[in-house]
Amino acid sequence: MFDHITAPDPDPIIRIMGLYLDDTRSDKVDLGVGVYRDAHGRTPVMRAVKAAEARILETQESKGYTALAGDPAFRAGMAGLLLGGAVSEDRLACAGAPGGTGAIRQLLELVARANPDATIHVPAPTWPNHPAIIAAVGLKMAEYRYFDTATGGVDMDGMLADLGRAARGDVVVLHGCCHNPTGADPTPQDWAAIAAVLEQTGAVPFIDMAYQGLGDGPDEDAGGLRHLAARLPELLVAASGSKNFGLYRERVGLAMAICSDPARRDAVAGTMAWLNRQNFAFPPDHGARVVSTILDDTQLRGAWLDELAEMRARLQSNRRALAEALRAETGSDRFGFLAGHRGMFSLLGAGPEAVRRLRDAHAVYLVDDGRLNVAGLGPGNIARVARAIAEATG
Ligand code: LMR
Repeated sequence: MFDHITAPDPDPIIRIMGLYLDDTRSDKVDLGVGVYRDAHGRTPVMRAVKAAEARILETQESKGYTALAGDPAFRAGMAGLLLGGAVSEDRLACAGAPGGTGAIRQLLELVARANPDATIHVPAPTWPNHPAIIAAVGLKMAEYRYFDTATGGVDMDGMLADLGRAARGDVVVLHGCCHNPTGADPTPQDWAAIAAVLEQTGAVPFIDMAYQGLGDGPDEDAGGLRHLAARLPELLVAASGSKNFGLYRERVGLAMAICSDPARRDAVAGTMAWLNRQNFAFPPDHGARVVSTILDDTQLRGAWLDELAEMRARLQSNRRALAEALRAETGSDRFGFLAGHRGMFSLLGAGPEAVRRLRDAHAVYLVDDGRLNVAGLGPGNIARVARAIAEATG
Protein backbone atom coordinates (compact mmCIF):
# COMPACT_ATOMS: atom_id res chain seq x y z
CA MET A 1 0.00 0.00 0.00
CA PHE A 2 2.77 2.44 0.85
CA ASP A 3 5.14 1.38 -1.92
CA HIS A 4 4.58 4.51 -3.95
CA ILE A 5 4.12 7.09 -1.25
CA THR A 6 6.62 9.93 -0.99
CA ALA A 7 6.53 12.52 1.79
CA PRO A 8 5.53 15.95 0.50
CA ASP A 9 8.13 18.68 1.06
CA PRO A 10 7.42 20.53 4.31
CA ASP A 11 6.24 24.08 3.78
CA PRO A 12 8.96 26.75 3.97
CA ILE A 13 8.10 27.78 7.55
CA ILE A 14 8.14 24.23 8.93
CA ARG A 15 11.41 23.57 7.04
CA ILE A 16 13.12 26.55 8.67
CA MET A 17 11.86 25.46 12.11
CA GLY A 18 13.64 22.13 11.54
CA LEU A 19 16.89 23.69 10.30
CA TYR A 20 16.97 26.04 13.28
CA LEU A 21 16.40 23.22 15.78
CA ASP A 22 19.21 21.18 14.21
CA ASP A 23 21.72 24.07 14.34
CA THR A 24 24.13 23.57 17.25
CA ARG A 25 25.61 27.11 17.24
CA SER A 26 24.88 28.75 20.60
CA ASP A 27 24.41 32.25 19.14
CA LYS A 28 21.73 31.23 16.60
CA VAL A 29 18.82 33.66 16.20
CA ASP A 30 15.31 32.44 15.31
CA LEU A 31 13.48 34.98 13.16
CA GLY A 32 11.54 32.23 11.37
CA VAL A 33 8.27 30.73 12.62
CA GLY A 34 5.59 33.16 13.83
CA VAL A 35 5.65 32.74 17.58
CA TYR A 36 5.96 35.59 20.06
CA ARG A 37 9.11 35.78 22.17
CA ASP A 38 9.92 37.94 25.17
CA ALA A 39 13.23 39.76 25.72
CA HIS A 40 14.75 36.48 27.00
CA GLY A 41 13.75 34.60 23.88
CA ARG A 42 10.98 32.69 25.67
CA THR A 43 7.39 32.17 24.50
CA PRO A 44 5.67 32.72 27.84
CA VAL A 45 2.34 31.38 29.08
CA MET A 46 0.41 34.64 29.49
CA ARG A 47 -0.44 35.64 33.07
CA ALA A 48 -4.20 35.70 32.42
CA VAL A 49 -3.94 32.25 30.84
CA LYS A 50 -2.19 30.87 33.94
CA ALA A 51 -4.91 32.38 36.16
CA ALA A 52 -7.72 31.04 33.95
CA GLU A 53 -6.14 27.59 33.89
CA ALA A 54 -5.89 27.57 37.69
CA ARG A 55 -9.56 28.51 37.91
CA ILE A 56 -10.56 25.79 35.42
CA LEU A 57 -8.49 23.18 37.25
CA GLU A 58 -10.27 24.04 40.47
CA THR A 59 -13.82 24.31 39.19
CA GLN A 60 -14.16 22.01 36.18
CA GLU A 61 -16.21 18.95 37.06
CA SER A 62 -16.42 17.14 33.77
CA LYS A 63 -14.44 16.47 30.63
CA GLY A 64 -17.54 15.17 28.85
CA TYR A 65 -18.11 16.17 25.25
CA THR A 66 -19.06 19.72 24.33
CA ALA A 67 -21.23 20.51 21.29
CA LEU A 68 -19.95 19.66 17.78
CA ALA A 69 -19.53 23.40 17.25
CA GLY A 70 -17.66 23.75 20.56
CA ASP A 71 -18.48 25.54 23.78
CA PRO A 72 -21.18 28.23 23.25
CA ALA A 73 -19.39 30.64 25.65
CA PHE A 74 -16.24 30.42 23.52
CA ARG A 75 -18.16 31.07 20.31
CA ALA A 76 -19.94 34.07 21.80
CA GLY A 77 -16.77 35.49 23.39
CA MET A 78 -14.79 35.22 20.17
CA ALA A 79 -17.62 36.66 18.10
CA GLY A 80 -17.68 39.68 20.43
CA LEU A 81 -13.91 40.10 20.26
CA LEU A 82 -13.94 39.94 16.47
CA LEU A 83 -17.03 41.92 15.60
CA GLY A 84 -17.60 44.22 18.58
CA GLY A 85 -21.33 44.00 17.91
CA ALA A 86 -21.07 45.06 14.24
CA VAL A 87 -23.44 42.23 13.18
CA SER A 88 -26.56 40.92 14.91
CA GLU A 89 -26.02 37.52 16.50
CA ASP A 90 -28.83 35.87 14.57
CA ARG A 91 -26.77 36.18 11.37
CA LEU A 92 -23.72 34.38 12.81
CA ALA A 93 -22.88 30.73 12.25
CA CYS A 94 -19.83 29.79 14.34
CA ALA A 95 -17.91 26.61 15.07
CA GLY A 96 -14.84 25.94 17.16
CA ALA A 97 -11.94 24.42 15.24
CA PRO A 98 -8.42 23.16 15.99
CA GLY A 99 -6.53 26.45 15.62
CA GLY A 100 -6.76 29.12 12.96
CA THR A 101 -5.54 26.55 10.44
CA GLY A 102 -8.41 24.22 11.33
CA ALA A 103 -10.85 27.10 10.96
CA ILE A 104 -9.50 27.90 7.48
CA ARG A 105 -9.83 24.27 6.47
CA GLN A 106 -13.40 23.99 7.75
CA LEU A 107 -14.50 27.20 6.02
CA LEU A 108 -12.94 26.19 2.72
CA GLU A 109 -14.77 22.88 2.97
CA LEU A 110 -17.94 24.88 3.53
CA VAL A 111 -17.17 26.91 0.38
CA ALA A 112 -16.50 23.69 -1.56
CA ARG A 113 -19.99 22.50 -0.63
CA ALA A 114 -21.71 25.84 -1.23
CA ASN A 115 -20.00 26.74 -4.51
CA PRO A 116 -17.51 24.15 -5.82
CA ASP A 117 -16.79 26.41 -8.82
CA ALA A 118 -15.59 29.30 -6.67
CA THR A 119 -12.12 30.66 -7.26
CA ILE A 120 -10.30 31.58 -4.05
CA HIS A 121 -8.34 34.80 -4.53
CA VAL A 122 -5.28 35.14 -2.28
CA PRO A 123 -2.85 38.04 -1.89
CA ALA A 124 0.60 37.80 -3.50
CA PRO A 125 2.33 36.90 -1.32
CA THR A 126 0.37 35.06 1.35
CA TRP A 127 0.89 32.52 4.14
CA PRO A 128 2.09 29.33 2.37
CA ASN A 129 -0.56 27.17 4.01
CA HIS A 130 -3.37 29.09 2.24
CA PRO A 131 -2.58 27.71 -1.23
CA ALA A 132 -1.83 24.29 0.29
CA ILE A 133 -5.24 24.02 1.96
CA ILE A 134 -7.08 25.42 -1.06
CA ALA A 135 -5.44 22.72 -3.21
CA ALA A 136 -6.19 20.02 -0.62
CA VAL A 137 -9.87 20.97 -0.62
CA GLY A 138 -9.86 20.93 -4.44
CA LEU A 139 -10.81 24.55 -5.07
CA LYS A 140 -9.38 26.85 -7.75
CA MET A 141 -7.02 29.63 -6.70
CA ALA A 142 -5.90 32.94 -8.19
CA GLU A 143 -3.48 35.55 -6.84
CA TYR A 144 -4.19 39.26 -6.61
CA ARG A 145 -1.49 41.93 -6.41
CA TYR A 146 -0.90 43.02 -2.82
CA PHE A 147 2.63 44.02 -1.88
CA ASP A 148 4.53 46.90 -3.43
CA THR A 149 8.20 45.97 -3.03
CA ALA A 150 9.27 49.49 -4.01
CA THR A 151 7.45 51.19 -1.12
CA GLY A 152 7.11 48.30 1.35
CA GLY A 153 3.37 49.13 1.44
CA VAL A 154 0.16 47.78 -0.08
CA ASP A 155 -0.24 48.08 -3.86
CA MET A 156 -3.81 49.33 -3.59
CA ASP A 157 -4.23 50.16 -7.29
CA GLY A 158 -3.07 46.69 -8.32
CA MET A 159 -5.14 45.01 -5.62
CA LEU A 160 -8.37 46.81 -6.48
CA ALA A 161 -7.88 46.23 -10.22
CA ASP A 162 -7.35 42.48 -9.67
CA LEU A 163 -10.21 42.14 -7.18
CA GLY A 164 -12.48 43.93 -9.64
CA ARG A 165 -12.16 40.86 -11.87
CA ALA A 166 -13.43 38.41 -9.21
CA ALA A 167 -16.76 36.75 -10.03
CA ARG A 168 -19.93 36.70 -7.91
CA GLY A 169 -19.61 33.81 -5.46
CA ASP A 170 -15.79 33.79 -5.58
CA VAL A 171 -13.96 34.14 -2.29
CA VAL A 172 -11.31 36.76 -1.49
CA VAL A 173 -8.85 35.92 1.29
CA LEU A 174 -7.81 39.02 3.23
CA HIS A 175 -5.49 39.14 6.24
CA GLY A 176 -7.45 41.00 8.93
CA CYS A 177 -4.30 42.66 10.30
CA CYS A 178 -0.54 42.13 10.56
CA HIS A 179 -0.29 40.72 7.05
CA ASN A 180 1.71 37.50 6.88
CA PRO A 181 4.41 37.64 5.46
CA THR A 182 4.71 41.31 4.48
CA GLY A 183 3.65 43.27 7.60
CA ALA A 184 1.90 45.79 5.31
CA ASP A 185 -1.78 46.41 6.11
CA PRO A 186 -4.51 48.39 4.37
CA THR A 187 -5.47 51.73 5.98
CA PRO A 188 -9.10 52.38 7.04
CA GLN A 189 -9.61 54.22 3.72
CA ASP A 190 -8.17 51.23 1.88
CA TRP A 191 -10.63 48.91 3.66
CA ALA A 192 -13.49 51.11 2.47
CA ALA A 193 -12.23 50.84 -1.10
CA ILE A 194 -11.89 47.04 -0.73
CA ALA A 195 -15.48 46.86 0.60
CA ALA A 196 -16.70 48.86 -2.41
CA VAL A 197 -15.07 46.53 -4.94
CA LEU A 198 -16.40 43.44 -3.12
CA GLU A 199 -19.86 44.99 -3.06
CA GLN A 200 -19.67 45.61 -6.76
CA THR A 201 -18.41 42.13 -7.74
CA GLY A 202 -20.40 40.04 -5.25
CA ALA A 203 -17.26 38.13 -4.20
CA VAL A 204 -17.28 37.02 -0.56
CA PRO A 205 -14.46 38.17 1.76
CA PHE A 206 -12.68 35.57 3.86
CA ILE A 207 -10.83 37.27 6.69
CA ASP A 208 -7.92 35.38 8.20
CA MET A 209 -7.58 36.93 11.67
CA ALA A 210 -4.54 35.33 13.26
CA TYR A 211 -2.90 38.30 15.00
CA GLN A 212 -5.73 40.41 16.46
CA GLY A 213 -4.26 42.70 19.11
CA LEU A 214 -0.65 42.46 17.96
CA GLY A 215 -0.92 45.35 15.49
CA ASP A 216 -2.53 48.46 16.96
CA GLY A 217 -4.94 46.87 19.49
CA PRO A 218 -7.81 44.34 19.40
CA ASP A 219 -10.47 46.84 18.27
CA GLU A 220 -8.21 48.75 15.89
CA ASP A 221 -6.99 45.50 14.30
CA ALA A 222 -10.57 44.40 13.70
CA GLY A 223 -11.48 47.72 12.02
CA GLY A 224 -11.28 46.36 8.48
CA LEU A 225 -13.29 43.24 9.36
CA ARG A 226 -15.97 45.29 11.13
CA HIS A 227 -16.22 47.69 8.21
CA LEU A 228 -16.74 44.82 5.76
CA ALA A 229 -19.16 43.09 8.15
CA ALA A 230 -21.28 46.21 8.50
CA ARG A 231 -21.47 46.67 4.75
CA LEU A 232 -21.58 43.28 3.03
CA PRO A 233 -24.19 40.53 3.25
CA GLU A 234 -21.85 37.55 3.63
CA LEU A 235 -18.41 37.06 5.16
CA LEU A 236 -16.19 34.23 6.30
CA VAL A 237 -13.81 34.67 9.24
CA ALA A 238 -11.12 32.28 10.49
CA ALA A 239 -9.80 33.39 13.86
CA SER A 240 -6.91 32.04 15.89
CA GLY A 241 -6.17 32.24 19.61
CA SER A 242 -2.60 30.98 19.10
CA LYS A 243 -0.80 34.31 19.04
CA ASN A 244 -2.94 36.81 20.96
CA PHE A 245 -3.55 34.37 23.82
CA GLY A 246 -0.22 32.55 23.41
CA LEU A 247 -2.12 29.24 23.21
CA TYR A 248 -0.24 27.83 20.21
CA ARG A 249 -0.22 24.13 21.10
CA GLU A 250 -3.76 24.13 22.52
CA ARG A 251 -5.21 24.71 19.03
CA VAL A 252 -7.80 27.43 19.60
CA GLY A 253 -9.69 28.49 16.50
CA LEU A 254 -13.08 29.80 15.45
CA ALA A 255 -14.71 29.40 12.05
CA MET A 256 -17.39 32.00 11.45
CA ALA A 257 -19.79 32.54 8.56
CA ILE A 258 -21.80 35.75 8.55
CA CYS A 259 -25.05 35.05 6.70
CA SER A 260 -27.13 37.51 4.71
CA ASP A 261 -30.17 36.94 6.92
CA PRO A 262 -31.16 34.89 9.98
CA ALA A 263 -33.22 32.47 7.85
CA ARG A 264 -30.01 31.10 6.29
CA ARG A 265 -28.05 30.89 9.50
CA ASP A 266 -29.29 27.53 10.80
CA ALA A 267 -28.48 25.67 7.58
CA VAL A 268 -24.96 27.12 7.52
CA ALA A 269 -24.37 26.48 11.24
CA GLY A 270 -25.68 22.92 10.84
CA THR A 271 -23.33 22.33 7.90
CA MET A 272 -20.38 23.65 9.89
CA ALA A 273 -21.18 21.35 12.84
CA TRP A 274 -21.53 18.44 10.41
CA LEU A 275 -18.15 19.26 8.84
CA ASN A 276 -16.60 19.23 12.30
CA ARG A 277 -18.15 15.80 12.85
CA GLN A 278 -16.56 14.45 9.64
CA ASN A 279 -13.11 15.79 10.38
CA PHE A 280 -12.53 15.59 14.13
CA ALA A 281 -15.99 15.42 15.75
CA PHE A 282 -15.58 17.82 18.69
CA PRO A 283 -13.08 20.70 18.61
CA PRO A 284 -10.43 20.90 21.36
CA ASP A 285 -11.87 22.45 24.48
CA HIS A 286 -9.16 23.36 26.98
CA GLY A 287 -7.72 26.38 25.16
CA ALA A 288 -11.18 27.53 24.10
CA ARG A 289 -12.33 27.41 27.72
CA VAL A 290 -9.27 29.41 28.78
CA VAL A 291 -10.21 32.06 26.22
CA SER A 292 -13.86 32.30 27.30
CA THR A 293 -12.84 32.35 30.98
CA ILE A 294 -10.62 35.35 30.25
CA LEU A 295 -13.07 37.18 28.00
CA ASP A 296 -16.00 36.72 30.39
CA ASP A 297 -14.22 38.01 33.51
CA THR A 298 -13.55 41.76 33.80
CA GLN A 299 -10.36 41.35 35.80
CA LEU A 300 -8.84 38.57 33.69
CA ARG A 301 -9.79 40.38 30.50
CA GLY A 302 -8.09 43.53 31.76
CA ALA A 303 -4.95 41.59 32.68
CA TRP A 304 -4.93 39.93 29.27
CA LEU A 305 -5.34 43.25 27.45
CA ASP A 306 -2.47 44.73 29.49
CA GLU A 307 -0.11 41.90 28.64
CA LEU A 308 -1.17 41.98 24.99
CA ALA A 309 -0.34 45.70 24.97
CA GLU A 310 3.12 44.91 26.40
CA MET A 311 3.69 42.34 23.65
CA ARG A 312 2.56 44.77 20.98
CA ALA A 313 4.82 47.50 22.35
CA ARG A 314 7.77 45.12 22.32
CA LEU A 315 7.18 44.23 18.67
CA GLN A 316 7.02 47.91 17.72
CA SER A 317 10.11 48.78 19.73
CA ASN A 318 12.03 45.91 18.10
CA ARG A 319 10.97 47.23 14.71
CA ARG A 320 12.22 50.73 15.48
CA ALA A 321 15.47 49.42 16.98
CA LEU A 322 16.19 47.21 13.95
CA ALA A 323 15.37 49.98 11.47
CA GLU A 324 17.70 52.32 13.37
CA ALA A 325 20.52 49.78 13.65
CA LEU A 326 20.21 49.10 9.91
CA ARG A 327 20.30 52.82 9.17
CA ALA A 328 23.56 53.04 11.12
CA GLU A 329 25.01 49.92 9.43
CA THR A 330 24.05 50.75 5.85
CA GLY A 331 24.14 54.56 5.98
CA SER A 332 20.78 54.49 4.15
CA ASP A 333 17.09 54.40 4.90
CA ARG A 334 16.39 51.40 2.70
CA PHE A 335 15.10 49.37 5.67
CA GLY A 336 13.11 52.28 7.14
CA PHE A 337 9.83 50.57 6.14
CA LEU A 338 10.35 48.02 8.95
CA ALA A 339 9.30 50.58 11.55
CA GLY A 340 6.00 51.28 9.78
CA HIS A 341 4.85 47.67 9.51
CA ARG A 342 2.62 45.92 12.04
CA GLY A 343 2.63 42.56 13.80
CA MET A 344 5.42 40.00 13.87
CA PHE A 345 6.47 39.96 10.24
CA SER A 346 8.13 42.00 7.54
CA LEU A 347 9.52 41.00 4.19
CA LEU A 348 13.11 42.16 4.23
CA GLY A 349 13.54 42.23 0.46
CA ALA A 350 16.45 39.79 0.78
CA GLY A 351 16.85 37.26 -2.05
CA PRO A 352 17.38 33.51 -1.48
CA GLU A 353 21.19 33.91 -1.63
CA ALA A 354 21.16 36.52 1.14
CA VAL A 355 18.76 34.44 3.25
CA ARG A 356 21.05 31.43 2.88
CA ARG A 357 24.11 33.51 3.78
CA LEU A 358 22.36 34.89 6.85
CA ARG A 359 21.68 31.33 7.94
CA ASP A 360 25.01 29.71 7.02
CA ALA A 361 27.46 32.48 7.87
CA HIS A 362 25.62 34.28 10.69
CA ALA A 363 23.21 31.72 12.23
CA VAL A 364 20.33 34.15 11.63
CA TYR A 365 17.20 32.28 10.50
CA LEU A 366 14.62 33.88 8.19
CA VAL A 367 12.04 32.12 6.01
CA ASP A 368 13.29 31.64 2.42
CA ASP A 369 11.14 34.45 1.04
CA GLY A 370 13.00 36.92 3.32
CA ARG A 371 10.27 37.07 5.99
CA LEU A 372 11.58 37.92 9.43
CA ASN A 373 9.77 37.66 12.75
CA VAL A 374 10.71 40.74 14.77
CA ALA A 375 9.66 38.98 18.01
CA GLY A 376 12.92 37.01 17.82
CA LEU A 377 14.94 40.23 18.21
CA GLY A 378 16.11 41.64 21.52
CA PRO A 379 18.73 43.92 23.05
CA GLY A 380 21.19 41.00 23.02
CA ASN A 381 21.07 40.37 19.26
CA ILE A 382 19.77 43.42 17.36
CA ALA A 383 23.21 44.93 16.64
CA ARG A 384 24.56 41.58 15.46
CA VAL A 385 21.48 40.86 13.32
CA ALA A 386 21.67 44.32 11.73
CA ARG A 387 25.37 43.81 10.91
CA ALA A 388 24.59 40.40 9.42
CA ILE A 389 21.71 41.75 7.29
CA ALA A 390 23.84 44.65 6.05
CA GLU A 391 26.63 42.25 5.13
CA ALA A 392 24.42 39.62 3.49
CA THR A 393 22.26 42.05 1.50
CA GLY A 394 25.01 44.61 0.78
C1 LMR B 1 3.72 31.45 10.77
O1 LMR B 1 3.29 31.99 9.75
O2 LMR B 1 4.93 31.32 11.00
C2 LMR B 1 2.75 30.96 11.81
O3 LMR B 1 1.45 31.24 11.41
C3 LMR B 1 2.96 29.55 12.18
C4 LMR B 1 2.52 28.61 11.11
O4 LMR B 1 1.77 27.70 11.43
O5 LMR B 1 2.93 28.76 9.95
